[in-house]
Amino acid sequence: MDLSTSYLGLKLPHPLMPGASPLVKNLDTVRRLEDAGAAAIVLHSLFEEQIISEQFREEQDVEVPEESFAEAITYHPRRNEYRAIGSEYYLERVRKIKEIVSVPVIASLNGISIGTWIEYAAKCEQAGADALELNVYFMATDAEESSETIEHRVVEVVKAVKSTVTIPVAIKLSPFFSSLPNLTKRIEEAGADGILLFNRFYQPDIDVEKLEGVPNLRLSDSSELLLRLRWIAILSGKVGLSLGCTGGVHTAIDALKMVMAGAHGVQMVSALLKNGPDYLRQVLDEMTSWMEQHDYESIEQMRGSMSLLNCPDPAAFTRENYMRILQGGTKYV
Ligand SMILES: Cc1cc2nc3c(=O)[nH]c(=O)nc-3n(C[C@H](O)[C@H](O)[C@H](O)COP(=O)(O)O)c2cc1C
Repeated sequence: MDLSTSYLGLKLPHPLMPGASPLVKNLDTVRRLEDAGAAAIVLHSLFEEQIISEQFREEQDVEVPEESFAEAITYHPRRNEYRAIGSEYYLERVRKIKEIVSVPVIASLNGISIGTWIEYAAKCEQAGADALELNVYFMATDAEESSETIEHRVVEVVKAVKSTVTIPVAIKLSPFFSSLPNLTKRIEEAGADGILLFNRFYQPDIDVEKLEGVPNLRLSDSSELLLRLRWIAILSGKVGLSLGCTGGVHTAIDALKMVMAGAHGVQMVSALLKNGPDYLRQVLDEMTSWMEQHDYESIEQMRGSMSLLNCPDPAAFTRENYMRILQGGTKYV
């Protein structure tokens, strides 16, 4: 079975990899991810706030204990266990991970100002990163700022970073853009090698007794796949850059659906935090068995077979189906 794929111009043995997360803060976990077959290792993001203010240091630079994946997100750092300076520590981590794995290493930046994007994109490349993810996480809270201004900023970041580095660059987007196909086209024209759909937004809750905002980081489940499935299916075949999926991939069937929609790369985070890094191998094996049982020869053959362009019922992804569902005739689940 030929599971190989080209993602961001990187030749990978298959599309499956861990997404940006604290999993890579433990080097044993990185080794286990590679042993489990990860096609690439994606680092957690270096945040601009981390660079500017080292006061973030102890929250961010946490050595995650290998055996406590479910607890990883609530794990309280053992103080002084891993003394490190935000940005230097990050670059050192890129170097270290490059040393211990043979698969491509993808660094991730989450910035605000163009100068920082450029400077740290170059530093990540120098540290040995094989590719970069730019997480353009931005909350539009200002009524004076238009969607065009926000999109323009994203495109400018891509241009600036691409004119600085030679490694491939993927842009991790949120689902909240008015015309994702148009933005994707502009991102591609600006030189990006891929987009990743979608960022999961951190959604604070309210404590009605204490009248406080409550930080809330919930792991995903497979239901979150559908938003990504639709948009990758819509974009597949219409843009030339790589399509990566992040969000809601928990099983082999989830990953296969994403490939059928058109994904070149498929990332998992919540599933690996819940089940541990070795789970990646199980998903990979199950993908292979399913493809054998269904007489597929390669991922290439499967990719995009259920995209909007190739799907026997393209209305499933568009407005027509919305009307059909609301007017009855579709089972509730
Ligand atoms: C604990 C945790 C930490 C994360 N850290 C980052 C990060 O540093 N940078 C980033 O781009 N995404 C980060 N993410 C988002 C994931 O990369 C991924 O996009 C998201 O969890 C959706 O995928 P999933 O459904 O497989 O979890 C994080 C997610 C979790 C749960």
